[in-house]
Amino acid sequence: MPGGGVVPVLTTNAGPVIKPKTKKQAIRAVLASSFMAMGGILFGYDTGTISGIIAMEKFKEDFGTYYPDNVPTNTSPIPQPGWSLSTGDTSLVVSILSAGTFVGALCGAPIADTLGRRWGLQVAMVVFCVGVILQLIAQALPLFIVGRVVAGLGVGIVSTIVPMFQAETAPRWARGAVTSGYQWAITIGLLFAALANNGTKDRTDTGSYRIPIGVQLGFALILSFGTMLLPESPRWFVKKGKIEQAAKSLATLNATDVDDACVQAELADIRTNLEVELTHGNGTYLDCFRNNDRKNLTRTLVGTWLQAWQQLTGINFIFYYGTQFFNSTGAGDPFIFTIVSNVVNVVCTVPGIWAMDRVGRRNILVWGAVWMAIMEGIVAIIGTVFGNSNPAAQRGLVALVCLYVGGFASTWGPAAWVVCGEIFPLAIRAKALSLCTASNWLWNFGIGYATPYLVDSGPGKAGLGPKVFWIWTATCALSAVFAYFCIVETKGLSLEEVDSLYCTTSPRLSAAANREMRARRSDLETVGAHMVSDEAAEADAAKRDVEYESKTVDA
Ligand code: BGC
Repeated sequence: MPGGGVVPVLTTNAGPVIKPKTKKQAIRAVLASSFMAMGGILFGYDTGTISGIIAMEKFKEDFGTYYPDNVPTNTSPIPQPGWSLSTGDTSLVVSILSAGTFVGALCGAPIADTLGRRWGLQVAMVVFCVGVILQLIAQALPLFIVGRVVAGLGVGIVSTIVPMFQAETAPRWARGAVTSGYQWAITIGLLFAALANNGTKDRTDTGSYRIPIGVQLGFALILSFGTMLLPESPRWFVKKGKIEQAAKSLATLNATDVDDACVQAELADIRTNLEVELTHGNGTYLDCFRNNDRKNLTRTLVGTWLQAWQQLTGINFIFYYGTQFFNSTGAGDPFIFTIVSNVVNVVCTVPGIWAMDRVGRRNILVWGAVWMAIMEGIVAIIGTVFGNSNPAAQRGLVALVCLYVGGFASTWGPAAWVVCGEIFPLAIRAKALSLCTASNWLWNFGIGYATPYLVDSGPGKAGLGPKVFWIWTATCALSAVFAYFCIVETKGLSLEEVDSLYCTTSPRLSAAANREMRARRSDLETVGAHMVSDEAAEADAAKRDVEYESKTVDA
Protein backbone atom coordinates (compact mmCIF):
# COMPACT_ATOMS: atom_id res chain seq x y z
CA MET A 1 0.00 0.00 0.00
CA PRO A 2 1.14 3.55 -0.51
CA GLY A 3 3.91 4.49 1.80
CA GLY A 4 6.16 7.49 2.44
CA GLY A 5 9.08 8.77 0.38
CA VAL A 6 9.76 11.73 -1.86
CA VAL A 7 8.05 11.29 -5.17
CA PRO A 8 7.90 13.57 -8.18
CA VAL A 9 4.45 15.08 -8.11
CA LEU A 10 2.63 16.43 -11.12
CA THR A 11 2.48 20.17 -11.27
CA THR A 12 -0.50 21.89 -12.73
CA ASN A 13 -0.69 25.07 -14.69
CA ALA A 14 -1.32 27.97 -12.36
CA GLY A 15 -3.75 29.56 -14.82
CA PRO A 16 -7.44 30.12 -14.19
CA VAL A 17 -9.70 27.11 -13.85
CA ILE A 18 -12.73 26.86 -16.15
CA LYS A 19 -15.71 27.87 -14.08
CA PRO A 20 -19.13 28.68 -15.54
CA LYS A 21 -19.80 32.40 -15.80
CA THR A 22 -23.46 31.97 -16.68
CA LYS A 23 -26.18 29.43 -15.91
CA LYS A 24 -26.22 28.45 -19.59
CA GLN A 25 -22.52 27.56 -19.46
CA ALA A 26 -22.99 25.51 -16.28
CA ILE A 27 -25.93 23.59 -17.73
CA ARG A 28 -24.16 22.97 -21.05
CA ALA A 29 -21.01 21.70 -19.34
CA VAL A 30 -22.85 19.28 -17.07
CA LEU A 31 -25.36 18.14 -19.68
CA ALA A 32 -22.71 17.15 -22.21
CA SER A 33 -20.88 14.83 -19.82
CA SER A 34 -24.08 13.62 -18.13
CA PHE A 35 -25.65 12.55 -21.41
CA MET A 36 -23.08 9.78 -21.49
CA ALA A 37 -24.74 8.32 -18.39
CA MET A 38 -27.31 7.01 -20.88
CA GLY A 39 -24.73 4.24 -21.31
CA GLY A 40 -25.39 3.35 -17.66
CA ILE A 41 -29.08 2.88 -18.44
CA LEU A 42 -28.11 0.44 -21.18
CA PHE A 43 -25.77 -1.41 -18.78
CA GLY A 44 -28.38 -1.60 -15.99
CA TYR A 45 -31.27 -2.54 -18.25
CA ASP A 46 -29.40 -5.28 -20.04
CA THR A 47 -28.10 -6.87 -16.85
CA GLY A 48 -31.46 -6.49 -15.06
CA THR A 49 -33.87 -7.73 -17.66
CA ILE A 50 -32.77 -11.36 -17.52
CA SER A 51 -33.86 -11.79 -13.90
CA GLY A 52 -37.53 -11.45 -14.88
CA ILE A 53 -37.22 -13.11 -18.27
CA ILE A 54 -36.03 -16.44 -16.88
CA ALA A 55 -39.01 -16.41 -14.51
CA MET A 56 -41.55 -15.92 -17.37
CA GLU A 57 -43.75 -18.88 -18.25
CA LYS A 58 -43.55 -18.33 -22.04
CA PHE A 59 -39.75 -18.09 -21.94
CA LYS A 60 -39.49 -21.32 -19.92
CA GLU A 61 -41.87 -22.99 -22.37
CA ASP A 62 -39.87 -21.86 -25.44
CA PHE A 63 -36.37 -22.42 -24.07
CA GLY A 64 -36.77 -24.80 -21.12
CA THR A 65 -37.62 -28.44 -20.46
CA TYR A 66 -40.95 -30.00 -19.47
CA TYR A 67 -40.82 -31.79 -16.12
CA PRO A 68 -43.78 -34.23 -15.95
CA ASP A 69 -43.44 -34.95 -12.21
CA ASN A 70 -42.29 -31.77 -10.54
CA VAL A 71 -40.59 -28.51 -11.58
CA PRO A 72 -37.09 -28.56 -9.97
CA THR A 73 -37.45 -25.11 -8.42
CA ASN A 74 -41.03 -25.70 -7.25
CA THR A 75 -41.32 -24.84 -3.58
CA SER A 76 -44.95 -25.93 -3.19
CA PRO A 77 -45.47 -28.92 -0.85
CA ILE A 78 -47.58 -30.55 -3.62
CA PRO A 79 -45.35 -31.62 -6.56
CA GLN A 80 -46.48 -29.95 -9.80
CA PRO A 81 -45.49 -30.69 -13.39
CA GLY A 82 -44.36 -27.79 -15.55
CA TRP A 83 -41.74 -26.04 -17.71
CA SER A 84 -38.46 -24.90 -16.25
CA LEU A 85 -34.88 -24.07 -17.15
CA SER A 86 -32.35 -26.50 -15.69
CA THR A 87 -29.87 -25.11 -13.15
CA GLY A 88 -27.11 -25.33 -15.78
CA ASP A 89 -29.12 -23.44 -18.41
CA THR A 90 -30.23 -20.82 -15.89
CA SER A 91 -26.69 -20.02 -14.82
CA LEU A 92 -25.46 -20.02 -18.42
CA VAL A 93 -28.20 -17.67 -19.71
CA VAL A 94 -27.65 -15.26 -16.82
CA SER A 95 -23.89 -15.24 -16.52
CA ILE A 96 -22.81 -15.55 -20.15
CA LEU A 97 -23.54 -11.85 -20.70
CA SER A 98 -20.79 -11.08 -18.19
CA ALA A 99 -18.33 -13.24 -20.14
CA GLY A 100 -18.98 -11.01 -23.17
CA THR A 101 -18.80 -7.86 -21.08
CA PHE A 102 -15.45 -8.99 -19.61
CA VAL A 103 -13.88 -9.23 -23.07
CA GLY A 104 -15.70 -6.06 -24.19
CA ALA A 105 -14.35 -4.09 -21.21
CA LEU A 106 -10.79 -5.10 -22.10
CA CYS A 107 -11.31 -4.19 -25.77
CA GLY A 108 -12.83 -0.85 -24.72
CA ALA A 109 -9.47 0.79 -23.94
CA PRO A 110 -7.67 0.09 -27.27
CA ILE A 111 -10.85 0.91 -29.22
CA ALA A 112 -11.31 4.21 -27.40
CA ASP A 113 -7.63 5.10 -27.73
CA THR A 114 -7.51 4.31 -31.45
CA LEU A 115 -10.88 5.53 -32.73
CA GLY A 116 -11.65 8.09 -30.05
CA ARG A 117 -14.29 7.91 -27.34
CA ARG A 118 -17.23 8.86 -29.60
CA TRP A 119 -16.50 6.46 -32.46
CA GLY A 120 -15.61 3.77 -29.93
CA LEU A 121 -19.14 4.10 -28.58
CA GLN A 122 -20.56 3.77 -32.10
CA VAL A 123 -18.70 0.47 -32.50
CA ALA A 124 -20.12 -0.67 -29.15
CA MET A 125 -23.65 0.23 -30.24
CA VAL A 126 -23.41 -1.73 -33.51
CA VAL A 127 -22.10 -4.82 -31.67
CA PHE A 128 -24.76 -4.46 -28.98
CA CYS A 129 -27.61 -4.16 -31.51
CA VAL A 130 -26.42 -7.29 -33.36
CA GLY A 131 -26.51 -9.17 -30.03
CA VAL A 132 -30.02 -7.93 -29.22
CA ILE A 133 -31.29 -8.88 -32.70
CA LEU A 134 -29.84 -12.39 -32.30
CA GLN A 135 -31.75 -12.76 -29.01
CA LEU A 136 -34.92 -11.49 -30.68
CA ILE A 137 -34.82 -14.01 -33.51
CA ALA A 138 -33.60 -16.95 -31.38
CA GLN A 139 -35.91 -19.98 -31.33
CA ALA A 140 -33.59 -22.14 -29.24
CA LEU A 141 -31.22 -21.63 -26.36
CA PRO A 142 -27.85 -21.78 -28.24
CA LEU A 143 -28.62 -18.77 -30.49
CA PHE A 144 -30.11 -16.89 -27.53
CA ILE A 145 -26.88 -17.48 -25.61
CA VAL A 146 -24.74 -16.31 -28.57
CA GLY A 147 -26.91 -13.17 -28.68
CA ARG A 148 -26.27 -12.58 -24.96
CA VAL A 149 -22.50 -12.90 -25.45
CA VAL A 150 -22.47 -10.47 -28.41
CA ALA A 151 -24.69 -7.94 -26.61
CA GLY A 152 -22.36 -8.37 -23.63
CA LEU A 153 -19.37 -7.38 -25.76
CA GLY A 154 -21.16 -4.12 -26.59
CA VAL A 155 -22.11 -3.44 -22.97
CA GLY A 156 -18.51 -4.17 -21.89
CA ILE A 157 -17.08 -1.59 -24.31
CA VAL A 158 -19.70 0.92 -23.12
CA SER A 159 -18.84 0.27 -19.48
CA THR A 160 -15.20 1.15 -20.07
CA ILE A 161 -15.69 4.13 -22.37
CA VAL A 162 -18.53 5.92 -20.57
CA PRO A 163 -16.86 6.62 -17.19
CA MET A 164 -13.66 7.54 -19.04
CA PHE A 165 -15.45 9.93 -21.40
CA GLN A 166 -17.37 11.45 -18.48
CA ALA A 167 -14.26 11.99 -16.37
CA GLU A 168 -12.45 13.52 -19.35
CA THR A 169 -15.21 15.91 -20.38
CA ALA A 170 -16.90 16.79 -17.09
CA PRO A 171 -15.98 20.19 -15.67
CA ARG A 172 -13.74 19.84 -12.60
CA TRP A 173 -16.31 21.42 -10.30
CA ALA A 174 -18.89 18.72 -11.10
CA ARG A 175 -16.73 15.65 -11.78
CA GLY A 176 -17.71 13.64 -8.68
CA ALA A 177 -21.43 14.13 -9.21
CA VAL A 178 -21.23 13.43 -12.94
CA THR A 179 -19.32 10.16 -12.40
CA SER A 180 -21.71 9.05 -9.65
CA GLY A 181 -24.52 9.87 -12.09
CA TYR A 182 -23.32 6.90 -14.13
CA GLN A 183 -24.17 4.54 -11.25
CA TRP A 184 -27.51 6.28 -10.84
CA ALA A 185 -28.20 5.63 -14.53
CA ILE A 186 -27.32 1.94 -13.99
CA THR A 187 -29.92 1.72 -11.22
CA ILE A 188 -32.52 3.50 -13.40
CA GLY A 189 -31.78 0.99 -16.17
CA LEU A 190 -32.32 -1.87 -13.73
CA LEU A 191 -35.63 -0.32 -12.65
CA PHE A 192 -36.78 0.14 -16.26
CA ALA A 193 -36.03 -3.54 -16.84
CA ALA A 194 -38.13 -4.56 -13.83
CA LEU A 195 -41.00 -2.35 -15.03
CA ALA A 196 -40.81 -3.66 -18.59
CA ASN A 197 -40.79 -7.27 -17.36
CA ASN A 198 -43.72 -6.60 -15.09
CA GLY A 199 -45.63 -5.01 -17.97
CA THR A 200 -45.25 -8.00 -20.28
CA LYS A 201 -44.92 -11.01 -17.96
CA ASP A 202 -48.57 -12.07 -18.27
CA ARG A 203 -48.60 -12.13 -22.07
CA THR A 204 -48.97 -15.63 -23.42
CA ASP A 205 -47.04 -14.92 -26.65
CA THR A 206 -43.32 -14.40 -27.24
CA GLY A 207 -43.90 -10.66 -26.75
CA SER A 208 -43.62 -11.38 -23.01
CA TYR A 209 -39.84 -11.65 -23.32
CA ARG A 210 -39.21 -10.19 -26.80
CA ILE A 211 -40.65 -6.76 -25.95
CA PRO A 212 -38.36 -6.17 -22.92
CA ILE A 213 -35.40 -7.41 -24.96
CA GLY A 214 -36.28 -5.27 -28.01
CA VAL A 215 -36.70 -2.06 -26.00
CA GLN A 216 -32.93 -1.97 -25.67
CA LEU A 217 -32.54 -1.13 -29.35
CA GLY A 218 -34.22 2.21 -28.57
CA PHE A 219 -31.69 2.99 -25.81
CA ALA A 220 -28.83 2.12 -28.16
CA LEU A 221 -30.15 4.43 -30.90
CA ILE A 222 -30.56 7.35 -28.49
CA LEU A 223 -27.02 6.85 -27.14
CA SER A 224 -25.60 6.52 -30.62
CA PHE A 225 -27.23 9.68 -32.10
CA GLY A 226 -26.73 11.72 -28.93
CA THR A 227 -23.02 10.89 -28.74
CA MET A 228 -22.43 12.12 -32.27
CA LEU A 229 -23.82 15.52 -31.27
CA LEU A 230 -21.22 15.82 -28.50
CA PRO A 231 -17.64 16.98 -29.01
CA GLU A 232 -14.86 14.39 -28.76
CA SER A 233 -12.87 14.26 -25.51
CA PRO A 234 -10.28 17.06 -25.42
CA ARG A 235 -7.90 14.68 -23.58
CA TRP A 236 -8.05 12.22 -26.47
CA PHE A 237 -7.26 15.01 -28.97
CA VAL A 238 -4.25 16.03 -26.84
CA LYS A 239 -3.07 12.42 -26.70
CA LYS A 240 -3.28 12.33 -30.51
CA GLY A 241 -1.38 15.65 -30.81
CA LYS A 242 -4.46 17.45 -32.25
CA ILE A 243 -4.16 20.53 -30.10
CA GLU A 244 -6.43 22.86 -32.11
CA GLN A 245 -9.27 20.35 -32.02
CA ALA A 246 -8.70 19.86 -28.30
CA ALA A 247 -9.11 23.61 -27.75
CA LYS A 248 -12.30 23.67 -29.86
CA SER A 249 -13.71 20.73 -27.93
CA LEU A 250 -12.97 22.36 -24.56
CA ALA A 251 -14.56 25.59 -25.76
CA THR A 252 -17.71 23.81 -27.01
CA LEU A 253 -18.03 21.74 -23.83
CA ASN A 254 -17.91 24.89 -21.74
CA ALA A 255 -19.95 27.13 -24.05
CA THR A 256 -17.12 29.62 -24.48
CA ASP A 257 -14.49 30.71 -27.07
CA VAL A 258 -11.26 29.01 -28.02
CA ASP A 259 -9.40 32.18 -27.02
CA ASP A 260 -10.88 32.18 -23.53
CA ALA A 261 -7.93 32.30 -21.10
CA CYS A 262 -9.52 29.49 -19.08
CA VAL A 263 -9.64 27.19 -22.11
CA GLN A 264 -6.01 27.90 -22.91
CA ALA A 265 -5.00 27.33 -19.27
CA GLU A 266 -6.83 24.00 -19.06
CA LEU A 267 -5.33 22.92 -22.36
CA ALA A 268 -1.84 23.77 -21.16
CA ASP A 269 -2.60 21.81 -17.98
CA ILE A 270 -3.63 18.69 -19.87
CA ARG A 271 -0.54 18.91 -22.10
CA THR A 272 1.87 19.43 -19.20
CA ASN A 273 0.38 16.57 -17.20
CA LEU A 274 0.52 14.19 -20.11
CA GLU A 275 4.15 15.08 -20.83
CA VAL A 276 5.16 14.54 -17.18
CA GLU A 277 3.28 11.26 -16.99
CA LEU A 278 4.79 9.99 -20.20
CA THR A 279 8.24 10.33 -18.65
CA HIS A 280 7.12 7.52 -16.31
CA GLY A 281 6.13 5.14 -19.14
CA ASN A 282 4.20 5.10 -22.39
CA GLY A 283 0.94 4.12 -20.78
CA THR A 284 0.95 0.48 -21.88
CA TYR A 285 -0.84 -2.38 -20.10
CA LEU A 286 2.55 -3.33 -18.68
CA ASP A 287 2.86 0.15 -17.15
CA CYS A 288 -0.31 -0.54 -15.15
CA PHE A 289 1.61 -3.32 -13.35
CA ARG A 290 4.90 -1.48 -12.81
CA ASN A 291 5.77 -1.17 -9.16
CA ASN A 292 7.26 2.29 -9.77
CA ASP A 293 7.39 5.42 -7.65
CA ARG A 294 3.99 6.42 -8.98
CA LYS A 295 2.53 3.30 -7.32
CA ASN A 296 0.96 2.10 -10.57
CA LEU A 297 0.83 -1.53 -9.43
CA THR A 298 -0.73 -0.62 -6.09
CA ARG A 299 -3.39 1.47 -7.77
CA THR A 300 -4.21 -1.22 -10.30
CA LEU A 301 -4.53 -3.83 -7.52
CA VAL A 302 -6.70 -1.53 -5.41
CA GLY A 303 -8.97 -0.70 -8.38
CA THR A 304 -9.40 -4.26 -9.61
CA TRP A 305 -10.00 -5.62 -6.10
CA LEU A 306 -12.38 -2.82 -5.26
CA GLN A 307 -14.55 -3.92 -8.19
CA ALA A 308 -14.17 -7.57 -7.16
CA TRP A 309 -15.35 -6.83 -3.62
CA GLN A 310 -18.21 -4.76 -4.99
CA GLN A 311 -19.46 -7.89 -6.75
CA LEU A 312 -18.68 -10.08 -3.74
CA THR A 313 -21.13 -8.05 -1.64
CA GLY A 314 -23.65 -10.34 -3.36
CA ILE A 315 -25.68 -7.50 -4.90
CA ASN A 316 -26.30 -9.27 -8.17
CA PHE A 317 -27.82 -12.24 -6.39
CA ILE A 318 -30.73 -9.82 -5.88
CA PHE A 319 -30.65 -8.24 -9.33
CA TYR A 320 -30.12 -11.44 -11.33
CA TYR A 321 -31.99 -14.01 -9.28
CA GLY A 322 -34.17 -11.64 -7.24
CA THR A 323 -37.45 -12.51 -8.94
CA GLN A 324 -36.81 -16.22 -8.41
CA PHE A 325 -35.66 -15.66 -4.83
CA PHE A 326 -38.69 -13.54 -3.92
CA ASN A 327 -40.86 -16.19 -5.60
CA SER A 328 -39.37 -18.90 -3.38
CA THR A 329 -40.08 -16.91 -0.20
CA GLY A 330 -43.79 -17.11 -1.09
CA ALA A 331 -44.30 -13.68 0.52
CA GLY A 332 -46.28 -12.10 -2.35
CA ASP A 333 -45.93 -11.19 -6.04
CA PRO A 334 -42.21 -11.63 -6.82
CA PHE A 335 -42.33 -9.17 -9.76
CA ILE A 336 -43.64 -6.45 -7.44
CA PHE A 337 -40.87 -7.15 -4.90
CA THR A 338 -38.36 -6.88 -7.70
CA ILE A 339 -39.76 -3.45 -8.61
CA VAL A 340 -39.66 -2.38 -4.95
CA SER A 341 -36.03 -3.43 -4.52
CA ASN A 342 -35.17 -1.56 -7.72
CA VAL A 343 -36.95 1.59 -6.56
CA VAL A 344 -34.96 1.36 -3.31
CA ASN A 345 -31.80 1.03 -5.41
CA VAL A 346 -32.58 4.15 -7.48
CA VAL A 347 -33.73 6.30 -4.55
CA CYS A 348 -30.88 5.37 -2.19
CA THR A 349 -28.24 6.16 -4.79
CA VAL A 350 -29.13 9.86 -4.46
CA PRO A 351 -27.91 10.24 -0.82
CA GLY A 352 -24.83 8.28 -1.93
CA ILE A 353 -24.06 10.88 -4.61
CA TRP A 354 -24.64 13.63 -2.05
CA ALA A 355 -22.41 11.98 0.55
CA MET A 356 -19.54 11.16 -1.81
CA ASP A 357 -17.79 14.53 -1.49
CA ARG A 358 -18.95 15.17 2.07
CA VAL A 359 -18.59 11.92 4.04
CA GLY A 360 -15.71 10.74 1.84
CA ARG A 361 -15.06 7.61 -0.20
CA ARG A 362 -13.21 5.71 2.52
CA ASN A 363 -15.87 6.19 5.22
CA ILE A 364 -18.63 5.36 2.79
CA LEU A 365 -16.96 2.12 1.75
CA VAL A 366 -16.06 0.95 5.28
CA TRP A 367 -19.43 1.74 6.89
CA GLY A 368 -21.44 0.67 3.86
CA ALA A 369 -19.86 -2.80 4.04
CA VAL A 370 -20.50 -3.01 7.79
CA TRP A 371 -24.19 -2.11 7.28
CA MET A 372 -24.59 -4.69 4.49
CA ALA A 373 -22.88 -7.39 6.57
CA ILE A 374 -25.33 -6.76 9.44
CA MET A 375 -28.41 -6.83 7.17
CA GLU A 376 -27.29 -9.97 5.36
CA GLY A 377 -26.36 -11.60 8.65
CA ILE A 378 -29.92 -11.12 9.95
CA VAL A 379 -31.35 -12.45 6.65
CA ALA A 380 -29.09 -15.48 7.01
CA ILE A 381 -30.27 -16.09 10.59
CA ILE A 382 -33.96 -15.79 9.62
CA GLY A 383 -33.44 -18.03 6.58
CA THR A 384 -31.62 -20.66 8.66
CA VAL A 385 -34.10 -20.66 11.55
CA PHE A 386 -37.40 -20.46 9.63
CA GLY A 387 -36.58 -21.73 6.12
CA ASN A 388 -39.62 -21.07 3.92
CA SER A 389 -42.13 -22.04 6.59
CA ASN A 390 -43.08 -18.80 8.33
CA PRO A 391 -44.89 -16.07 6.26
CA ALA A 392 -44.12 -13.29 8.77
CA ALA A 393 -40.43 -14.24 8.75
CA GLN A 394 -40.50 -14.26 4.92
CA ARG A 395 -41.90 -10.75 4.82
CA GLY A 396 -39.24 -9.60 7.30
CA LEU A 397 -36.62 -11.20 5.12
CA VAL A 398 -37.82 -9.29 2.07
CA ALA A 399 -37.76 -6.01 4.04
CA LEU A 400 -34.20 -6.72 5.22
CA VAL A 401 -33.10 -7.45 1.67
CA CYS A 402 -34.43 -4.00 0.69
CA LEU A 403 -32.44 -2.41 3.56
CA TYR A 404 -29.37 -4.23 2.32
CA VAL A 405 -29.97 -3.01 -1.28
CA GLY A 406 -30.41 0.53 0.07
CA GLY A 407 -27.06 0.21 1.85
CA PHE A 408 -25.33 -0.93 -1.32
CA ALA A 409 -26.95 1.79 -3.43
CA SER A 410 -25.79 4.61 -1.20
CA THR A 411 -22.25 3.31 -0.70
CA TRP A 412 -20.49 0.61 -2.71
CA GLY A 413 -22.62 1.12 -5.83
CA PRO A 414 -21.42 4.63 -6.73
CA ALA A 415 -18.18 4.63 -4.68
CA ALA A 416 -16.52 1.76 -6.55
CA TRP A 417 -16.92 3.58 -9.89
CA VAL A 418 -15.98 6.99 -8.48
CA VAL A 419 -12.78 5.68 -6.85
CA CYS A 420 -11.71 3.73 -9.95
CA GLY A 421 -12.34 6.79 -12.11
CA GLU A 422 -10.00 9.00 -10.12
CA ILE A 423 -7.08 6.98 -8.78
CA PHE A 424 -5.14 6.49 -12.04
CA PRO A 425 -2.78 8.95 -13.74
CA LEU A 426 -3.87 10.00 -17.25
CA ALA A 427 -1.16 8.05 -19.08
CA ILE A 428 -2.54 4.70 -17.87
CA ARG A 429 -6.11 5.78 -17.07
CA ALA A 430 -7.89 4.16 -20.03
CA LYS A 431 -6.10 0.84 -19.68
CA ALA A 432 -6.18 0.62 -15.89
CA LEU A 433 -9.86 1.57 -15.83
CA SER A 434 -10.61 -1.13 -18.40
CA LEU A 435 -8.83 -3.67 -16.14
CA CYS A 436 -11.00 -2.59 -13.19
CA THR A 437 -14.17 -2.80 -15.27
CA ALA A 438 -13.10 -6.21 -16.58
CA SER A 439 -12.54 -7.34 -12.98
CA ASN A 440 -16.09 -6.22 -12.13
CA TRP A 441 -17.45 -8.33 -15.00
CA LEU A 442 -15.22 -11.31 -14.24
CA TRP A 443 -16.53 -11.55 -10.69
CA ASN A 444 -19.99 -10.74 -11.90
CA PHE A 445 -19.73 -13.73 -14.22
CA GLY A 446 -18.27 -16.07 -11.59
CA ILE A 447 -20.88 -15.20 -8.99
CA GLY A 448 -23.73 -15.23 -11.52
CA TYR A 449 -22.64 -18.67 -12.71
CA ALA A 450 -22.03 -20.23 -9.30
CA THR A 451 -25.08 -18.88 -7.47
CA PRO A 452 -27.75 -21.27 -8.83
CA TYR A 453 -25.47 -24.19 -7.93
CA LEU A 454 -25.10 -22.82 -4.41
CA VAL A 455 -28.80 -22.07 -3.92
CA ASP A 456 -30.66 -24.89 -5.72
CA SER A 457 -31.10 -28.38 -4.26
CA GLY A 458 -30.35 -31.66 -6.01
CA PRO A 459 -27.36 -33.77 -6.94
CA GLY A 460 -24.14 -31.77 -7.31
CA LYS A 461 -25.75 -28.64 -5.83
CA ALA A 462 -25.25 -27.13 -2.40
CA GLY A 463 -28.99 -26.47 -1.73
CA LEU A 464 -28.21 -23.48 0.50
CA GLY A 465 -31.45 -21.59 -0.27
CA PRO A 466 -31.61 -18.42 1.89
CA LYS A 467 -28.57 -19.70 3.83
CA VAL A 468 -26.50 -18.39 0.90
CA PHE A 469 -26.69 -15.07 2.77
CA TRP A 470 -24.10 -16.44 5.23
CA ILE A 471 -21.63 -16.25 2.35
CA TRP A 472 -22.59 -12.63 1.53
CA THR A 473 -22.33 -11.75 5.24
CA ALA A 474 -18.77 -13.00 5.32
CA THR A 475 -17.78 -11.31 2.05
CA CYS A 476 -19.31 -7.98 3.15
CA ALA A 477 -17.32 -8.16 6.40
CA LEU A 478 -14.15 -8.78 4.37
CA SER A 479 -15.05 -5.87 2.07
CA ALA A 480 -15.05 -3.59 5.12
CA VAL A 481 -11.57 -4.84 6.06
CA PHE A 482 -10.37 -4.28 2.47
CA ALA A 483 -11.74 -0.72 2.42
CA TYR A 484 -10.17 0.06 5.81
CA PHE A 485 -6.69 -1.12 4.81
CA CYS A 486 -6.59 -0.20 1.12
CA ILE A 487 -8.72 2.85 0.28
CA VAL A 488 -7.11 6.28 0.29
CA GLU A 489 -9.45 9.18 1.09
CA THR A 490 -9.68 11.25 -2.10
CA LYS A 491 -12.70 13.48 -1.48
CA GLY A 492 -12.55 17.11 -2.59
CA LEU A 493 -9.20 16.86 -4.38
CA SER A 494 -8.28 17.54 -7.99
CA LEU A 495 -7.03 14.54 -9.99
CA GLU A 496 -3.48 15.85 -9.67
CA GLU A 497 -3.81 16.14 -5.88
CA VAL A 498 -5.23 12.59 -5.74
CA ASP A 499 -2.18 11.49 -7.67
CA SER A 500 0.21 13.12 -5.25
CA LEU A 501 -1.70 11.89 -2.18
CA TYR A 502 -1.51 8.34 -3.47
CA CYS A 503 2.25 8.59 -3.75
CA THR A 504 2.86 10.09 -0.34
CA THR A 505 0.50 8.64 2.24
CA SER A 506 -0.95 5.36 3.50
CA PRO A 507 -4.71 4.59 3.44
CA ARG A 508 -5.05 4.83 7.21
CA LEU A 509 -3.32 8.23 7.35
CA SER A 510 -4.95 9.50 4.18
CA ALA A 511 -7.96 11.23 5.76
CA ALA A 512 -5.65 13.51 7.77
CA ALA A 513 -3.33 14.05 4.79
CA ASN A 514 -6.35 14.87 2.64
CA ARG A 515 -7.56 17.48 5.16
CA GLU A 516 -4.10 19.03 5.27
CA MET A 517 -3.86 19.15 1.49
CA ARG A 518 -7.23 20.88 1.15
CA ALA A 519 -6.37 23.35 3.90
CA ARG A 520 -3.08 24.16 2.16
CA ARG A 521 -4.88 24.66 -1.14
CA SER A 522 -7.47 26.94 0.40
CA ASP A 523 -4.64 29.06 1.94
CA LEU A 524 -2.97 29.25 -1.48
CA GLU A 525 -6.26 30.19 -3.10
CA THR A 526 -6.71 33.02 -0.60
CA VAL A 527 -3.18 34.29 -1.34
CA GLY A 528 -3.86 33.80 -5.08
CA ALA A 529 -7.11 35.72 -4.84
CA HIS A 530 -5.28 38.64 -3.19
CA MET A 531 -2.60 38.51 -5.86
CA VAL A 532 -5.23 38.42 -8.59
CA SER A 533 -7.10 41.36 -7.11
CA ASP A 534 -3.81 43.32 -6.75
CA GLU A 535 -2.99 42.55 -10.36
CA ALA A 536 -6.49 43.54 -11.43
CA ALA A 537 -6.17 46.84 -9.54
CA GLU A 538 -2.81 47.53 -11.24
CA ALA A 539 -4.30 46.68 -14.64
CA ASP A 540 -7.22 49.04 -13.98
CA ALA A 541 -4.88 51.82 -12.98
CA ALA A 542 -2.77 51.28 -16.11
CA LYS A 543 -5.92 51.36 -18.26
CA ARG A 544 -7.05 54.62 -16.65
CA ASP A 545 -3.58 56.12 -17.30
CA VAL A 546 -3.74 55.15 -20.98
CA GLU A 547 -7.25 56.58 -21.33
CA TYR A 548 -6.19 59.79 -19.57
CA GLU A 549 -3.12 60.13 -21.81
CA SER A 550 -5.10 59.56 -25.01
CA LYS A 551 -7.72 62.12 -23.89
CA THR A 552 -4.93 64.61 -23.16
CA VAL A 553 -3.36 63.98 -26.60
CA ASP A 554 -6.77 64.42 -28.30
CA ALA A 555 -7.37 67.63 -26.43
C1 BGC B 1 -22.66 -2.96 -10.21
C2 BGC B 1 -23.61 -3.87 -10.90
C3 BGC B 1 -24.91 -3.90 -10.13
C4 BGC B 1 -25.45 -2.49 -9.95
C5 BGC B 1 -26.65 -2.45 -9.05
C6 BGC B 1 -23.27 -1.59 -10.16
O1 BGC B 1 -22.39 -0.69 -9.57
O2 BGC B 1 -21.41 -2.93 -10.86
O3 BGC B 1 -23.06 -5.16 -10.99
O4 BGC B 1 -25.86 -4.67 -10.80
O5 BGC B 1 -24.47 -1.64 -9.41
O6 BGC B 1 -27.12 -1.14 -8.89
